[in-house]
Amino acid sequence: MKKYDIVVLGSGPGGYVAAIRCAQLGMKTALIERYPTLGGTCLNVGCIPSKALLDSSEHFYNAKHNFDDHGIKAQKIELDWPRMRQRKDEVVRQTCDGLIYLMKKNKINVLNGHGTFKDKNTITVKDKANAKQTVNTKYTIIATGSKPSSITGVNCDKKRIITSTEALSMREVPQNLIVIGGGVIGLELGSVFKRLGSNVKIVEYLDRLVSGMDISLGKEIQRILKKQGIEFFLNHSVQKAVVSGKSVEVTAKNKKDKEVKFKGDYCLVSVGRSPYTDNLGLQKLGVNVDDQGRIKVNENLETSIPGIYAIGDVIKGAMLAHKAEEEGVFVAEKIAGQKPHINYKSIPEVLYTWPEAASVGFTEEELKAENYNYSSGSFPFKALGRARVSMDTEGFVKVLADKETDEVLGIHIVGARAADLIAEAVVALEYRASSEDIARMSHAHPTYAEAIKEAMLDATGKRSLHN
Ligand code: FAD
Ligand code: NAI
Repeated sequence: MKKYDIVVLGSGPGGYVAAIRCAQLGMKTALIERYPTLGGTCLNVGCIPSKALLDSSEHFYNAKHNFDDHGIKAQKIELDWPRMRQRKDEVVRQTCDGLIYLMKKNKINVLNGHGTFKDKNTITVKDKANAKQTVNTKYTIIATGSKPSSITGVNCDKKRIITSTEALSMREVPQNLIVIGGGVIGLELGSVFKRLGSNVKIVEYLDRLVSGMDISLGKEIQRILKKQGIEFFLNHSVQKAVVSGKSVEVTAKNKKDKEVKFKGDYCLVSVGRSPYTDNLGLQKLGVNVDDQGRIKVNENLETSIPGIYAIGDVIKGAMLAHKAEEEGVFVAEKIAGQKPHINYKSIPEVLYTWPEAASVGFTEEELKAENYNYSSGSFPFKALGRARVSMDTEGFVKVLADKETDEVLGIHIVGARAADLIAEAVVALEYRASSEDIARMSHAHPTYAEAIKEAMLDATGKRSLHN
């Protein structure tokens, strides 16, 4: 039986990053993955393919609708959907292949198959052909991720009622797409298909979109995406979805408890994800899980069994690739005897629609709920030279700061390249900058980042310069 210092279960961004850091720190490391390629949800059926389709569909949309304004006459813009899908697959393949290289470079032993605990220090790996091997390990990191969830009355047949996984590889562009759930997946994939010509209706249970972000972002995104043609039905709780031939009928109840029906050729179910712990052998081992099936961990991300850790989507917290990565590094360094730290409040959330939305730190609702004495500042993209240059004038930056000390507490952005801009906000939070600190720093002109400087100026109580 092969012996390892550490075995990592699952090769998503949590697992593969943990394995790399463990190997860098001198541990003999194995990575077990049941899927034929490495990279987990993120690389195979999540972040990477969805962003590839978002980028391609944005080019298509711009060519059709915005090139004229730039003085570019492009006639007969046509969609080659098989090619668009193929490009997405190529990007996924290249990214997954890159991981094989990284595993080799770091001398990580990759074992292909489903891993199950035999006991605390022994894991059996069974491959597709049912061939078994058993490995011995001192420590284990569980990074088995998540899978799409559904709701009562909605059975994903994966043909007409689909999850994000099928939506990323559809044979045809839907004519009428009903999306259940106005969270990140619903808005991102809804945007992809709207840009490609589908009629998209988003049915959301709550009175707001992307409910994890500051409320102002959901409102602004709804306003902008509505202009792009997406229809929203908030305060609608979906009760059932029924397939008949090539169509799907979705029934929801609105605020007045009235039934509302939606008809489409496809229905995308994007109502969240649940932890994946199938056949891991957790029960036998006595690893505790919570009422949502997430593996319980302490402040060191160690489970109820000493020596077994868990990270990423399979534990509590935001289901984000970069959160899983931070946790992977944290556990590796903890096992190596170092003193790592994660500040969960400075992990950003991003929505990759166009324009993008990004958020980090406290939301205004959270500060209000705590009766916190805060000041706020904002700056609209339409007052920004850079935004006018590219004609991306929608959105704003909003800054929340401590009224007394001026320490930045939260930054919330809707606007062009918000996903990249939020990195400056993370630095501000991590270094506990004041809004005046950032307002006094030079920001290159013309850039979208100037909106952050201007919003910070506004938050200090001085007036912004260009609004
Ligand atoms: P996963 O990536 O889910 O990886 C878990 C791996 O473990 C899988 O490969 C699985 O096959 C394997 N596994 C499970 N059980 C076993 C076992 N017993 N033995 C062996 N292997 C096993 N996040 C972002 O931050 N940015 C984004 O833009 C973004 N876009 C997304 C788009 C979509 C459509 C989806 C669905 C998700 C997106 N996410 C995004 C979320 C992100 O993909 C997840 O948060 C991230 O992948 C979680 O990483 P993980 O390592 O915890 O688990
Ligand atoms: P989500 O939690 O973002 O959104 C689900 C939405 O469905 C919620 O708004 C919820 O109110 C709604 N809903 C639930 N039940 C409903 C019902 N009966 N009727 C109508 N609406 C209902 O989950 P989503 O979009 O499925 O994404 C899953 C995870 O994937 C997220 O947690 C996210 O972290 C991750 N992800 C991250 C991305 C990013 O970082 N850009 C992109 C895509 C996914």
